[in-house]
Amino acid sequence: MFLVPFTVMLTLAGHCQLPGHPDNRCQNGRCALKIWRCDGDNDCGDNSDESYCPTKGPGDACAPEQFMCVLDRTCILASYQCDEESDCSDRSDEFNCSLPLVTSPPEESIQAARGENVTFTCTAIGVPTPIITWRLNWGHIPASSRITVTSENGRGTLTIQDVEEGDQGAYTCEAINAKGMVFAVPDGVLNITQNTAPPLVTSPPEESIQAARGENVTFTCTAIGVPTPIITWRLNWGHIPASSRITVTSENGRGTLTIQDVEEGDQGAYTCEAINAKGMVFAVPDGVLNITQNTDPPLDVWGILRWILMPLLPLVTTIMYCYTSRLCQSMFTQRLTCSHDSIYRGVQKVWCKQDSDLCCTGFAFGDAMRALGSEGLQVEHDAGSFTVTVLQLPQGEGVYWCGLLQRNNTIIKLAEKYFYECESGSGFPIISS
Ligand SMILES: *[C@@H]1O[C@H](CO)[C@@H](O)[C@H](O)[C@H]1NC(C)=O
Ligand SMILES: *[C@@H]1O[C@H](CO)[C@@H](O)[C@H](O)[C@H]1NC(C)=O
Ligand SMILES: *[C@@H]1O[C@H](CO)[C@@H](O)[C@H](O)[C@H]1NC(C)=O
Ligand SMILES: *[C@@H]1O[C@H](CO)[C@@H](O)[C@H](O)[C@H]1NC(C)=O
Ligand SMILES: *[C@@H]1O[C@H](CO)[C@@H](O)[C@H](O)[C@H]1NC(C)=O
Ligand SMILES: *[C@@H]1O[C@H](CO)[C@@H](O)[C@H](O)[C@H]1NC(C)=O
Repeated sequence: MFLVPFTVMLTLAGHCQLPGHPDNRCQNGRCALKIWRCDGDNDCGDNSDESYCPTKGPGDACAPEQFMCVLDRTCILASYQCDEESDCSDRSDEFNCSLPLVTSPPEESIQAARGENVTFTCTAIGVPTPIITWRLNWGHIPASSRITVTSENGRGTLTIQDVEEGDQGAYTCEAINAKGMVFAVPDGVLNITQNTAPPLVTSPPEESIQAARGENVTFTCTAIGVPTPIITWRLNWGHIPASSRITVTSENGRGTLTIQDVEEGDQGAYTCEAINAKGMVFAVPDGVLNITQNTDPPLDVWGILRWILMPLLPLVTTIMYCYTSRLCQSMFTQRLTCSHDSIYRGVQKVWCKQDSDLCCTGFAFGDAMRALGSEGLQVEHDAGSFTVTVLQLPQGEGVYWCGLLQRNNTIIKLAEKYFYECESGSGFPIISS
C-alpha cells in the first residue's frame, strides 16, 4: 500500500481517466487514481491499470513502470517514488520530488470547421514525471471513439477527430504526480466555425436570347456558396410577372427561368439573383430577351387576305389592320396617370392588367425605369405621380391598374383604366372612308 497524496485526488479518481482511454475504468468497474496507472502496483485488483503500459527497451536497466535508484541502479516500483518513504538505499527515490509545473499550456483557442481533426497539446515537468489528463468544461471528457488522449514523458495530447458542434468548449489540461495536481492556465478553447460562404455566381445567364414569338426560352444561372444559394430572378429590376407560361426552378445552386410561348411583353433584362444566409449577389450581365419581329406571322390570316384583297378593296385595308394587332396598336397611344403621396418616392411602382377583382399581372419597377418590358410601355415619373404611356398592349385589351408595391407583395391601387386594343374602343373594325 502507499500513501494517497492528497484528498483532491480521491475525488478525481471518480473519472477514471487513463492515458489512451478518456473514460477507462478498471476492467472490473472499479476506479483507480490516474497516477496509479502503470506504476507497477495492481491497484484495480484485476491488474487492468497495469495493462497496455510501455514496455522496457533493450538498453533500459529498469522497466518503464519502475524507478531506478541512483547509486546502486536497483529498480523499485515507480509508485514508491516520492511516497515520502525511502525505498532506495541512497534515498534517491525521495529526491527532488516536486509538484508538476506546466511548461506549455494547451493552445488557447482553436477555430476549426466541422469535420476537421483537432489536437490540444500540454506539457509539464515534475518529479515524478506528471501524467497529463483533460477535462471539458470542468466535467469529464465524454467517451467517444473520436477522442484520443495520450500522456508520455510529461507531454499530453487530446485529439478530436471529425469535430462537431458538441465538441465545443474549454479543455482543461491537468498535470498530476504523487506530489499533487496543477491545472494549466489558460484552458484551450475549441470553437467550431460556421462553415459559410456568401454566394458566388459561377455562370451568369445567357447574355442575349433572340426568340421568335411562340418559342420557348430558358435562361440558366449557377452559383456556389455555403449554404447552397437559392437562385431567383427579376425582370427589369422588378418582379417576374405571375404567369402560367413562366417557370422558375432552383436546385443545388442551379436556377432556370423558362418562358413558354414568348411574346413581346416578355422582352427585357432578366437578372439572376443568388441568395443565401451570408448575402445576395446579382449575376452580371443580365440575360436579355429580344423577340425577333416576325415579318410573316404564321396566323396572320388577315394579312394574307389583305394582300389578296388590297388591289380589289382598298378601303378594307383599314379594317384588317385592326385585327393585326401591331398595326392597330401603333395607331394610337393611351395613358394612365397615377398620383401618389410624395412619401412613396422610391417605392416600387406597379402597372398590371386586372385578372380578377383582387389580382393583376404585370410589372413592378423603380423610379428610374423608363420602359417596361418592351418599347411598347413607357413610364415617366415625377415627385407625386407616374404616367404609363401605352403604345402596344402585349397583355391584350382589358382593365389595367397602376399602384404601389408594398413589402408584403400586396399592392395599393392608385388608378385603373380600360385599355383598348384598337382605337374604336370596341374591338370592331374601323371602317374609314
Ligand atoms: C535532483 O536534482 C539535482 C540537482 O538538480 C540532480 O543533480 C539530481 O540528479 C536529482 N536527483 C534525482 C534523483 O533526480
Ligand atoms: C482525421 O484523422 C483520421 C485518423 O487519423 C484520418 O483518417 C482523417 O483523414 C483525418 N481527417 C482530416 C480532415 O484530416
Ligand atoms: C467562436 O468564434 C466566433 C467568431 O470568431 C465568435 O464570435 C464566438 O463568440 C466564438 N464562440 C465561442 C464559444 O468562443
Ligand atoms: C414549349 O414547351 C411546352 C411545354 O414543355 C411544349 O408543350 C411546347 O411544345 C413547347 N413549344 C415549343 C415551340 O417548343
Ligand atoms: C433586338 O434585336 C434587334 C435585332 O437584332 C436589335 O435591333 C434590337 O436593338 C434588339 N433589342 C434589344 C432590346 O436588345
Ligand atoms: C400588407 O401590408 C399592409 C401595410 O404594410 C397591410 O395593410 C396589409 O394588410 C398587408 N396585407 C397582407 C395580405 O398581409
